[in-house]
Amino acid sequence: MTNNNFQSTEPYKGVRDFYPEDMAIFRYITEIMRATSESFGYEEYNASVLEPSELYRGKSGDEIVNEQTYTFKDRGDREVTLRPEMTPTVARMVAAKRKQIPLPVRWYSIPNLFRYEQPQRGRLREHWQLNCDLFGGKDIEAEVEIISLAYELMRAYGLQDKDFIIRINSRKIMNFIINDYLRLPDDIGRKIARIIDKKTKLSDDEFKKSVTEAIGEKDEILLALLESKNFDEFVSHLPKNAELEDAIKEVKAVIESLEQLGVTNAIFDQTLMRGFDYYTGMVFEVFDTNPKNRRALFGGGRYDKLLESFGVESLPAVGFGMGDVTIRDVLEVRGLLPKYKNPACLAICIADPIGIPYANDLAQKVRRDGVNVIVDVTKRKLGDQIKSADKNGIPYVVCIGEDEVKSGTLKVKKLASGIETIIADEKLSAFVKEK
Ligand code: HAM
Repeated sequence: MTNNNFQSTEPYKGVRDFYPEDMAIFRYITEIMRATSESFGYEEYNASVLEPSELYRGKSGDEIVNEQTYTFKDRGDREVTLRPEMTPTVARMVAAKRKQIPLPVRWYSIPNLFRYEQPQRGRLREHWQLNCDLFGGKDIEAEVEIISLAYELMRAYGLQDKDFIIRINSRKIMNFIINDYLRLPDDIGRKIARIIDKKTKLSDDEFKKSVTEAIGEKDEILLALLESKNFDEFVSHLPKNAELEDAIKEVKAVIESLEQLGVTNAIFDQTLMRGFDYYTGMVFEVFDTNPKNRRALFGGGRYDKLLESFGVESLPAVGFGMGDVTIRDVLEVRGLLPKYKNPACLAICIADPIGIPYANDLAQKVRRDGVNVIVDVTKRKLGDQIKSADKNGIPYVVCIGEDEVKSGTLKVKKLASGIETIIADEKLSAFVKEK
């Protein structure tokens, strides 16, 4: 057999294997997601990774559906999609129980999502994403709650205000500019929205060129708006209009309320679009301020019309999605991830096979006392068993031979210091727990 006949040990392109150390990080990240969401009273839900492809048509936006989903026919000729995002699913679930569910609904989930993307730093084909969504709040208090939750998450990971900014914009304002002020036809409107969405990824010249190519001589008005240095300058370029003024007030009020809560890093940013068609109001994105990693970490917004496609009365909704990949990168770069610890804190090594039944019995007793313990099963030399416990980061060992079986007296060794303590076997659990 040549080497070419062996199967590859690589995972599928763009997905990850989680070795124990990766899994520990994943658990750390998701435990903070859970604890923070629940501290705001959000309840956990879940659903299948499989959805009828129908669900995403006319919701998520063309790019996601046409270019980024894993879609296939099942054996019954039904078109199925591996969920690329959770928002259509949660909207479907809320719509299904629209009449029964007490409002407001505060739900969270940490689903794995699949997108057929070109794998690169921060972008993979499978990621896990915390989704927090609040249904039934039509006013800005809902936005303020959702953004505060996003902010508290960042703090719970040990990040400070200077480490990130929260960029806020309003789809109402952007839609007014595109539809009413510039009067762009629908297809051009969508195209320019996509160009603005990609602004941070383009050079200034490339960006200006794409804008001019898309909207011709109207480019001057749009560029002046997009290049405004602050909110007041931006507003000064806009005509007077009652609806627009309401939208402007909303953005101001959200930023002010957040400031009152001590969130000082939320700013208006007219270049923030977010790629989904379903957003109807405020949109936001949390951005890393580290010069080496200037990128969006996560985001969301208001989507008040999504339930209508299920034939039920619409329900105002605000939410966000936070991926596990980008946050892991940020915490790794800043040294904020916890050190890996083996779950076992005690290794029982076998000095003589005569000790095996006693060792197993001892392990069972201490496990029932809540101590995580392994019994060496290799029958290697005692020195090698101890070395292997040390390599695996297990802090304590105890060796069982004929003497221990007879006397019930044990010598517990702390590997880091080499210190040995002699104790009776019934005191083992208490001793290890105490340390
Ligand atoms: P999104 O901006 O597409 O929004 O994704 C939210 C976050 O998920 C991103 O900012 C990023 O952290 C992570 N993410 C997305 N795609 C990938 C990928 N290919 N690899 C790694 N991480 C990724 C949504 O999905 C909306 N449904 C969020 C939402 C919930 N809006 C309202 N409620």
